Amino acid sequence: MKALVLAGGAGSRLRPITHTSAKQLVPVANKPVLFYGLEAIRDAGIREVGIVVGDTAKEIRRAVGDGSRFGLEVTYLPQEAPLGLAHAVLIARDFLGGDDFVMYLGDNFIVGGINDLVARFRRERPAAQIMLTRVSDPRAFGVAELDGSGRVIGLEEKPEKPKSDLALVGVYLFGPDVHEVVAGLKPSWRNELEITDAVQGLIDSGRRVESTMISGYWKDTGNVTDMLEVNRLVLESVEPSVEGSVDGASELIGRVVVEPGASVSGSRVVGPVIVGAGSVVRDSYVGPFTSIDRDCSVIDSEIEYSIVLRGASIDGVGRIECSLIGREAEVTPAPRVPKAHRLVLGDHSKVQISK
Ligand code: DAU
Repeated sequence: MKALVLAGGAGSRLRPITHTSAKQLVPVANKPVLFYGLEAIRDAGIREVGIVVGDTAKEIRRAVGDGSRFGLEVTYLPQEAPLGLAHAVLIARDFLGGDDFVMYLGDNFIVGGINDLVARFRRERPAAQIMLTRVSDPRAFGVAELDGSGRVIGLEEKPEKPKSDLALVGVYLFGPDVHEVVAGLKPSWRNELEITDAVQGLIDSGRRVESTMISGYWKDTGNVTDMLEVNRLVLESVEPSVEGSVDGASELIGRVVVEPGASVSGSRVVGPVIVGAGSVVRDSYVGPFTSIDRDCSVIDSEIEYSIVLRGASIDGVGRIECSLIGREAEVTPAPRVPKAHRLVLGDHSKVQISK
């Protein structure tokens, strides 16, 4: 079995973070979301992975390399434009050959990996196996309709009037029959070759399509709340470790990771928290469910339930909660007079100011 990982496309929903970087590289607990997918693929016993890349190819290649550090053999498959998930299968035809494959969307996060899913596919050998999860607003997803026995009878991509609340999760398993259907697909109303149409094609031609329900699932909905929530979930299971320096005036409570080269002084850190390599936390409070990426500084401040991306600095600003701070961002106090907020905000930024 091979894996096809989709890391092309443009990230509009996590703006402004994805104005400047690939959405598959947005970190959760200081690790790009794409890496969790690659690890899940490796843990399912798969070695050969094709990664579909687009405009952000350089950045993805730099992050993943040849895959050896994940125990994978990676082949990059350039896609000229994001012409659809089924288009990605089309351009991967030679790479995939006649093998079964798992297609994994690089911006999806699945708690608990894919081992059970892959094992079931290998046992039952349907033409396709999809994963479903209940969501409150299915209109942003592919939506499945099941018959009384739980078999998939219909799929629709981002329907205005969804027939169920069962959304398609971004992990699909296919046997080689899918190529025949993909080759005959026509672009949809949004000018993409839809993978939902490919799965529907398999159903319509009488092939067996199975589904599995899952619970722990996250997808970039553009909703920072969701991102903070998945960060919380992952931090909950980090193993505490202190490889950086922590001075005697500091207190670490619970699951706290202080990575090599990080320094914590005069501070109270209540886990779960990660302080990334090379970051400085001084005279501050860092509260539960906070991920501070590499080379950040948090000085004379309080922060909780937040994500701070690489190189950001927070200095002398009281308390920050439920926030996502972008790369190299600077948060500092304004001069005492005039009493005003001074903002330099990137496109699509969001600021909430307490009066
Ligand atoms: O996340 C689950 C949803 O993913 C499913 O419920 C939908 O049925 C499915 O169509 C897909 O919906 P999205 O419209 O949200 O997909 P998105 O455009 O975000 O692309 C998913 C990933 O695939 C993302 O990492 C970018 C990459 N991609 C996307 C397209 C369209 C490519 O590499 N090439 C492409 O042509």
